[in-house]
Amino acid sequence: MIFLKLSFVSLLCFVQSHASSQTNGNFSFASYFQEDMVLQMKPHRAQLWGYGTVGAVVNISLNQDVYSTRVKAGQDGRGVWLVVLRPHDAGGPVTFQAVQDNHGLLSWILLKNVLFGDIWICGGQSNMRFTMSMVTNATKEIAAASNYTDIRVMTPAKVESDSPLYDLKSIEEGWSIPSQDSLGAKAWSYFSAVCWLYGRYIYDEIKVPIGLISPNWGGTPVETWSSHRALSKCGLQDRSTSFRFNNKVPTSNSVLWNAMIHPLLNMTVKGAIWYQGEANTYYHKDVYSCSFPAMIEDWRKSWHQGTMGHSDPQFPFGFVQLANNKSFDDGSFPVIRWHQTADYGYVPNPKMPNTFMAVAMDLPDRDSPYGAVHPRDKQDVARRLSYGGLNIAYKRPIDPQGPIPSSGVRSADGRVVLTYPNHQHLIVSEQGNFQVCCNFSKCDHQKASPDPDWLWAPITSHTHRSVTLSAKVCVEKGGYASVVRYAWSLTPCKFKQCSVYNHIGLPAPPYVITLGDI
Ligand SMILES: *[C@@H]1O[C@H](CO)[C@@H](O)[C@H](O)[C@H]1NC(C)=O
Ligand SMILES: *[C@@H]1O[C@H](CO)[C@@H](O)[C@H](O)[C@H]1NC(C)=O
Ligand SMILES: *[C@@H]1O[C@H](CO)[C@@H](O)[C@H](O)[C@H]1NC(C)=O
Ligand SMILES: *[C@@H]1O[C@H](CO)[C@@H](O)[C@H](O)[C@H]1NC(C)=O
Ligand SMILES: *[C@@H]1O[C@H](CO)[C@@H](O)[C@H](O)[C@H]1NC(C)=O
Ligand SMILES: *[C@@H]1O[C@H](CO)[C@@H](O)[C@H](O)[C@H]1NC(C)=O
Ligand SMILES: *[C@@H]1O[C@H](CO)[C@@H](O)[C@H](O)[C@H]1NC(C)=O
Repeated sequence: MIFLKLSFVSLLCFVQSHASSQTNGNFSFASYFQEDMVLQMKPHRAQLWGYGTVGAVVNISLNQDVYSTRVKAGQDGRGVWLVVLRPHDAGGPVTFQAVQDNHGLLSWILLKNVLFGDIWICGGQSNMRFTMSMVTNATKEIAAASNYTDIRVMTPAKVESDSPLYDLKSIEEGWSIPSQDSLGAKAWSYFSAVCWLYGRYIYDEIKVPIGLISPNWGGTPVETWSSHRALSKCGLQDRSTSFRFNNKVPTSNSVLWNAMIHPLLNMTVKGAIWYQGEANTYYHKDVYSCSFPAMIEDWRKSWHQGTMGHSDPQFPFGFVQLANNKSFDDGSFPVIRWHQTADYGYVPNPKMPNTFMAVAMDLPDRDSPYGAVHPRDKQDVARRLSYGGLNIAYKRPIDPQGPIPSSGVRSADGRVVLTYPNHQHLIVSEQGNFQVCCNFSKCDHQKASPDPDWLWAPITSHTHRSVTLSAKVCVEKGGYASVVRYAWSLTPCKFKQCSVYNHIGLPAPPYVITLGDI
């Protein structure tokens, strides 16, 4: 600890030679402000905060800028200080010098090698946790990573809490520069493959530093990551948990929100990506179309509030639609896929503004040594997600999503024509992913395949803008085709062999369309 009275003139030399750490007795940065980190760049203003002695003055200096504030009593009585930086261009590295003046007792700390760039939060369960050493081509991908020194990664430790925490209790992997060690440690132990690859693909296009923070925990339902406020929107606030995958996986409401998300709310961020939903195929499945959008909305609102308006109240949020598969097919995967879009089939939509989605149902990996529910091809998942991110978050002119039909009509002789929007140039192969429901059936589109109400409708022809199906099955029974659904099954196709893609290889998401007359 350093207690000295010094003039301001001697301060800088002193800082250079003596203060080297982020902590000095009572005076420190919050846990996740560390050497080698990334802070959010313009147009946003990054926040820096930490601890000190209540009543003391804290000055944070960065080159010519000095931010002066006073330490106040925080939530638990501990002294906290917080400064809001001016907007910074992308770049760095920079070093922050901080001094606390407690009635003439001065202490110094430094925060070194900080870049300004975009911060992305990457949350979810095991498919987000799934680490770089486990992916297809792991050796090659990890070797390439060390070239990306402008991307920095951090993994909070797995912690649960019954009440909201204001700082991370512990950190699994502190802010790190990508390397063999920091990225490819070992299976299931940092760093998240989807998070890393997403960040890398974004970096390749945007070329600004990227900070990736991945709070994740395998097997966890969305309720654990949601605040009381979000859960109460869907009537889930008082529902207690009845299931556990195993004793190590938290399932209680809000426990990971409290310990792994809430502490980060005072940090300005660009946006979030998310890979979760498998656990909810067993748990409150039918509420997911409410609980997932409610969580997104609440994260955005909370980060906006926690950073005093400096994170976007509608920050971009991307997610991976469930891949496959489960050890048995109970019909739940297509239902959760649908609910992931708030039952629209596509995003953004009125309930999920500024969101983007990577379809993954066509990437089965039944021989994955980590179980078929954990496909090893995370490159395609992250690539697809990055197209969404580039379009939604960075306004690049790229299709964020595969084709969705704009209309569907039937003719009296049993033909069904689905027409797709102009800008989507279709690549169609005549696999059997379409099903039709006739007017004399119930047409509940969430019923699992096979189901007598949902009959296979083969593709008879296609162009770059339309797909024609045969719905003769309905006509033969004296009726007509009423509704068409696409790819409604656990594993609808072999690897990248579903029926409909666009010209950049994005698969059509599962969807449902009610037909009109020609
Ligand atoms: C650290 O905190 C203790 C207790 O609040 C206080 O007595 C002490 O003066 C503080 N030290 C400095 C350097 O501010
Ligand atoms: C902190 O900043 C204020 C305002 O710029 C200045 O008056 C004061 O001398 C600074 N204190 C220290 C210890 O640098
Ligand atoms: C790193 O970048 C350099 C320069 O572009 C390139 O020659 C090298 O092959 C890259 N290394 C890897 C492992 O990709
Ligand atoms: C972080 O944000 C929350 C919510 O606005 C606030 O209650 C808390 O005091 C902030 N932390 C600090 C250190 O200012
Ligand atoms: C789904 O996973 C199970 C268990 O891992 C496996 O036996 C089955 O073949 C997989 N099915 C498909 C279609 O990949
Ligand atoms: C793995 O590497 C091979 C050879 O470069 C490449 O053809 C293949 O697409 C890669 N797989 C993935 C998932 O990136
Ligand atoms: C279905 O359509 C056929 C042909 O238009 C009609 O005769 C029949 O009544 C319809 N069935 C139902 C249940 O609406």
